[in-house]
Order: sequence, then C-alpha cells, then structure tokens
Amino acid sequence: GLVNSRELFKKAVDGGYAIPAFNFNNLEQLQAIVSACVETKSPVILQVSSGARKYANQTLLKNLAKGAVEYAEELGYKIPIVLHLDHGDTFELCKSCIEMGFSSVMIDGSHHPYEKNVELTAQVVEYAHKYDVTVEGELGVLAGIEDDVQSDVTHYTKPEEVEDFVKKTGVDSLAISIGTSHGANKFKPEQCTRNEDGILIPPPLRFDILEEIEKRIPGFPIVLHGASSVPPELVKIINSNGGRLKDAVGIPEDQLRRAARSAVCKINIDSDGRLAMTAAIRKYLNEHPEEFDPRKYLGPAREALKELYKHKIVNVLGSNDKA
Ligand code: G3H
Ligand code: 13P
Ligand code: NA
Ligand code: ZN
Repeated sequence: GLVNSRELFKKAVDGGYAIPAFNFNNLEQLQAIVSACVETKSPVILQVSSGARKYANQTLLKNLAKGAVEYAEELGYKIPIVLHLDHGDTFELCKSCIEMGFSSVMIDGSHHPYEKNVELTAQVVEYAHKYDVTVEGELGVLAGIEDDVQSDVTHYTKPEEVEDFVKKTGVDSLAISIGTSHGANKFKPEQCTRNEDGILIPPPLRFDILEEIEKRIPGFPIVLHGASSVPPELVKIINSNGGRLKDAVGIPEDQLRRAARSAVCKINIDSDGRLAMTAAIRKYLNEHPEEFDPRKYLGPAREALKELYKHKIVNVLGSNDKA
C-alpha cells in the first residue's frame, strides 16, 4: 500500500539526495510519474493540490494513486509511493484527506502570523499522527501564486524561527523559502541578467539561509517548493508551435542538485511537467492537423513527461536506485 514519508526522508537526508514530489491531475500524468520512477527505481511522492481535487475529484485521484502501487509492480518493480496533499490550507481539508487514505499532508500556514501558523500546524500534526500520516509545515512565503494565496515578494524563512517551530508543532518536514517560487515566471526580467542567447539568468538561491537553517535543526527534513527549471528548449517548442509564453524563467538545475545534496529531501516539481506536456501536444497537433483522437496527442505528451521525470530523478535529485 501507500507509505508515509518518514523513512524515505530519513534515508534521503543521510544519503544526500531528494525524493521527487510530482503533482498529478489525470491518468496520463500518473502513468508518466510511476513509469519514470519504476524505470529509475526511485521512491516517489504523488501530490494532489486543492486545484487537482476540484479538477479531477478526490475519490478518483485517491483510487488512481492506490492503483499506482499495483501498477508499479505490474511494470516490474515495487517502489515506495506516498500520496500527499499539496498546500493544504485548513485543518478540515487535511482531516478529510487523512480520512480518505492520504499517507501525508501539507498544512501551509506560512501566510498566517507566526503564532497562528504554529497553532494550526500543531493541530494537524496531533490529528495526523494518530493515523501515522506525516505532516509538512511551511515557514516563509514564496513569491507567486499558490492556489488562492498570492504574494508579490519573497519572504525568506527566518532561521531563528525554525527550531521553535519544529519543536512546538511536531512536524515531520519543513518547507522553506530561499528564493524559489511557483509557476513558469519565477523572476521578473529586471531581477535577471541575460546570456548571449538572450536567455534570462535568475539570481541564485539563498544557500546562506539554507545553511543557517541546517545549523539550527541538523538533519531535519527540508522541503523545496517551486523547484521547476522552466527549460528554455520547452518554452521554445511551445512558442514555435503557436504558444505565447513570455519571460519564462526557472531555477537552474545545478542549484537544485546542490540543494538535493543538503538536508533538502523533497523537491516539488509541477510546472516543468506542464511545459513538457504542452510542448508535446502543441507540436503533435501542429504536425498532424488531421488527428482528433486524444490518445494520439496525449500518448506523446505522456512519453515526453516520463522522459522529463527520469531526467529530474537521475540528473537533478539523485533518487534513482534508492527504492
Ligand atoms: O503549488 C502549486 C502546484 O503547482 C499545484 O498547482 O494549484 O494549479 O494545481 P495547482
Ligand atoms: P513549480 O511551479 O516550480 O513546479 O512548483 C511546484 C510546487 O511547489 C508544488 O507544490
Ligand atoms: Na538531500
Ligand atoms: Zn508548492
């Protein structure tokens, strides 16, 4: 069955790698994730956002995730699979996911005042641990939009708060803000420099803050949200096949590799998958205007997504051969 994240995080922190946390909203995304993880022998965290629940129905998503455990075995290798609520914003939502059979939840109280965040997170932890469900909390606010919550600027995690927060709440992992953000436009062009090809180069992540956090809570599992790299070659395929993505810029993969070697043991990637699927679909439909069977364009999109995930696992996160 599904597992919680406790053992996976312990091994990842000790081993200097990160577990992939990939979002899914439909069958093709799930197939791509599971087959990529089976082929690379990687553990995986399947993430469901509130938006995913609204789009696809939580009962269907839960049963897809449960089916994924068997599907992986059918593909030839048993991998640990976590079903995780991404960016839960209330106790009731977390409770409902736990009742449904999720093995892990995030309670994102990062936009609340500190004391309120502590109180809400502790409440979720107390309930979740009765069912052996692991809980991710968050300190610091990422720039950009997460579901309904949005912030124009980054509020970096304050290292002086982390020890008190994990002690008072009992959380199993902590998401931090060190300069990543959600979506495909992570930085404003004026924050970046341009290389000779005109590609926007973002400012580096705040590894100084990460190191300070690691000193305060040594070995404690850290989570990085907003970790898509927004590959320029995918943006190019989209835009040369009728798309119009402007000023798209993400986190360079060498920085994520560095983060994965630290106490960062869960890295969240959604936007890069969206870009890979969209690029494949736009290209296919552009080249095959006579086709109208969804399997004809969703098939290549699923294949492109699987290749992207394998690349992330092997070349960025280092979670291959850890299952
Ligand atoms: O945190 C954001 C994730 O990429 C999920 O996005 O809320 O549009 O499903 P979503
Ligand atoms: P990206 O938008 O960078 O893929 O981040 C996804 C995420 O953090 C989901 O929680
Ligand atoms: Na790590
Ligand atoms: Zn996130």
